Order: sequence, then C-alpha cells, then structure tokens
Amino acid sequence: MHVMIIPTMGCPANCSYCWSSETTSLCMSTKTMDDIVEWLKTFKKEPVTFTFHGGEPLLAGYEFFEYSLDKISKELSDLYPAFAIQTNLWKMDDKLASLFKKYEIPIGSSLDGPQELNDIQRGVGYYEKTMKGYEIAKKHGLDVSFISTFTNYSIKHKEEIFNFFKENGLNMKIHPALPSIKSHKSDNFALDVEDYGELLLYLLDEYLNLADVIELKNIDHLCKAVFMRKGFVCTYVDCMGSTFAIGPDGSIYPCYRFVDMPEYVIGHVSDKPSYDDLMSSKAELLLIDYKDFVDENCKDCKHMDYCRGGCPYNALTITDNRVECVDPYCEAYKMILDKIDNLMNENLNLAFDELNDVVEKDFNFTLNVGLENQHSKNSKKFTVMDIALK
Ligand SMILES: C[S@@+](CC[C@H](N)C(=O)[O-])C[C@H]1O[C@@H](n2cnc3c(N)ncnc32)[C@H](O)[C@@H]1O
Ligand code: SF4
Ligand code: SF4
Repeated sequence: MHVMIIPTMGCPANCSYCWSSETTSLCMSTKTMDDIVEWLKTFKKEPVTFTFHGGEPLLAGYEFFEYSLDKISKELSDLYPAFAIQTNLWKMDDKLASLFKKYEIPIGSSLDGPQELNDIQRGVGYYEKTMKGYEIAKKHGLDVSFISTFTNYSIKHKEEIFNFFKENGLNMKIHPALPSIKSHKSDNFALDVEDYGELLLYLLDEYLNLADVIELKNIDHLCKAVFMRKGFVCTYVDCMGSTFAIGPDGSIYPCYRFVDMPEYVIGHVSDKPSYDDLMSSKAELLLIDYKDFVDENCKDCKHMDYCRGGCPYNALTITDNRVECVDPYCEAYKMILDKIDNLMNENLNLAFDELNDVVEKDFNFTLNVGLENQHSKNSKKFTVMDIALK
C-alpha cells in the first residue's frame, strides 16, 4: 500500500504550470499525525510506503518530520514502513538532511533542465535554490533523483535537457505537464500527446547506450513492465484501493492530485474508516467505474495488463470528472510500449535462436538473455532486456 502524506499544500514557489501550490495553507499538526498512525493500526496489515508530498512538504519543518518518522517507525513497525519525499529542496538544511539520512529516505526533487530553461518555466532563481538544497542532501549521502516536467515549451529543448542531466550525473524522471481539474493555470503548458510519445522514444534510444551512466526511471519501469507483464508505477496499475493520500487536515483522498477537492474526500483519519468504508465512498466508486471502463475499452489492446488505461486523474481532468475516456496519453503509451515490446521480442528470438544452436552443439548450455547477450545489441550498448533486468 502507498500512503501519501501531504503536510501542506502551501509552497514558497509558484511554478508556472503547477496545480498544487497555494500561498496560504494549513500545515499538518502532530495531532493529525497521531490520528494517521491510530487509523493505520487498524486499517490493513500490509507493508506501507509513506511518501511526503505537497505543496512543499519541507514547510512542515524539522520537528514535524522528527516526530512523524519516529512515531510511524515505532508504532507501525508491523507494516514495515518505508519512506520517500518529493520536495523542491529549498528548505533543506544539515539538520533535516541528517534526519532523512538516519531513515535512508530517497529524495525526489524537481528540476526542469539547465538554469535558464528551468527558471523560465518554474520561476526566476528557482534553479539556484533547488541546487543549493541538492548539494546539502548530497553532502549527507542522500539519494536524490529529479523530476523534469516537460511542457510544450521545454519539449523543443529535449536534447539540451537530457544532456544537462547526463553531463551533471543527475538521475531523471519525466512528467508531461498536464492540465488540472482544479484550475486552468497549467492548460497552456500541457504537453501534446505525440510530443510525449516522441520524447519517450528519444529517451529510450539514448538510454540504450547510456544505462550505465544515468538512471531514467520512466524507461526502467516501462521495460520492466513489458517484461513482467504488470505495471510498476501508479500510472500503469489499478491504483484504487492501494494508494491513499492524506491532506493537511486529515482528510483522505484517492491520490495527492485530488487533495483539496471536497468531492474527492473519501474519509477522515480521525474517524478510523475501514477499507470497505473508503471503497464505498463516491470518489472510489467513480474510480472503480474507471477500472470497469478500462476493462471494456482497452480489452483489445496488447498492453492492457501493464498499462491499465493509464492514470484516472489524467482521464477525469479532460471530461469534467466523468468516466468517458481513458488517459489522454494513451497514444503516447502505445508508441513507447510498442517499441519496447518489439525490441524485447527481437531480443528473445535471438536468444532462443542462440539457445537452439547451443542445444544442437552441446547439452551443457546456458541461457543468456541478460547483460551478456551480445547478439541483440543492434550497435547499442544495452538491450531493453538488460534494462528490464537491471
Ligand atoms: C506538485 S510538486 C510537489 C512537490 C514539490 N513541491 C516539488 O516541486 O517537487 C510534484 C511534481 O509535480 C510536478 N507538477 C506540477 N504541476 C504539474 C503539472 N501541471 N503537470 C505535471 N506535473 C506537474 C512538479 O514539477 C513536481 O515535479
Ligand atoms: S511544482 Fe512544487 S515547488 Fe513548484 S509551485 Fe508546485 S509545489 Fe511548489
Ligand atoms: S495503451 Fe491505451 S488502449 Fe492500451 S491499455 Fe493503455 S490506455 Fe488502454
């Protein structure tokens, strides 16, 4: 289970395309944290990953994190808690960094590329503030990777952005800039579907030579998903019932993207709702309708098992909260999944041809479809299979 904790929707930044920053916003109290822990003691007995998200989670301050991490680790130890945080890093300091190191918390941050480009679409001076926090995190040995949000502006500079991450040894995850259900602020930045597909194809092509130099999480996940025939990130799984987000006041939502939208509140931690209570809420029933819609509408798609219609939030955004279509990035997903599937089949066919040759010659053979499979490399250093097996 994935529980996203949103200590605040407030943020000192105001990125041009962001749907979730508010200038004034409540900060979660330690009393709400107590309620979260009490609720989870009775909710579901399965391992939980807690992700602190926002808004800007570091605004909650050192004491909040010290209290929360200690409490969750001690009182919910039977849920084997793991932690992660998504932050712009502006408020990172030595004290917070050593606390996060104590719990080995992986950090996700946000940087859209080189300074000028980042500051054009996030805000002036933002690059420097994030990099300052990054240096502190790095000094404390924290594992940091960056989300680069591609907009219809930055997509024109995709090579420059990718080279920036590569040359600076920064791990990268990409987001397509999306419209929002909450406001039209991000509409003009939204990344076009075909551009997103082309971007994923470009990154895969680069990665097949550079998988030992940089980590591209989206491509790792997609290759693994095609190989294992199941999704590994929320976009490509039935997230309903396995992901929950808790807003600053203790309201529970199906995902952080819905926080602060009253129609998507599915319960409150202080009421200690059961799993069945949450799943019978209006918003979860809407998401279950979405799942049924995907079962019907994607049934002829070969990628159905590891795409699952993409992200319901993306789909609901463009239909004004009605279940009428799958994720609008469907065509982009098909472009990259078709490519990976074809390359993987080529790899496997070559591996089986090789196996046949060896079987004919010698019964003491080894099946070699992993890192040492030289035949299917097509002049690239790595194969999609190498990436899937990373
Ligand atoms: C909403 S922020 C919250 C955490 C933190 N403040 C940060 O910036 O990393 C999480 C991520 O969502 C991305 N984001 C914001 N608005 C977006 C949009 N309209 N479409 C896609 N991603 C967006 C941000 O760039 C950031 O990487
Ligand atoms: S993307 Fe993050 S840093 Fe930027 S305004 Fe949104 S919440 Fe704040
Ligand atoms: S690629 Fe498109 S059609 Fe196929 S499962 Fe995903 S959303 Fe459905």
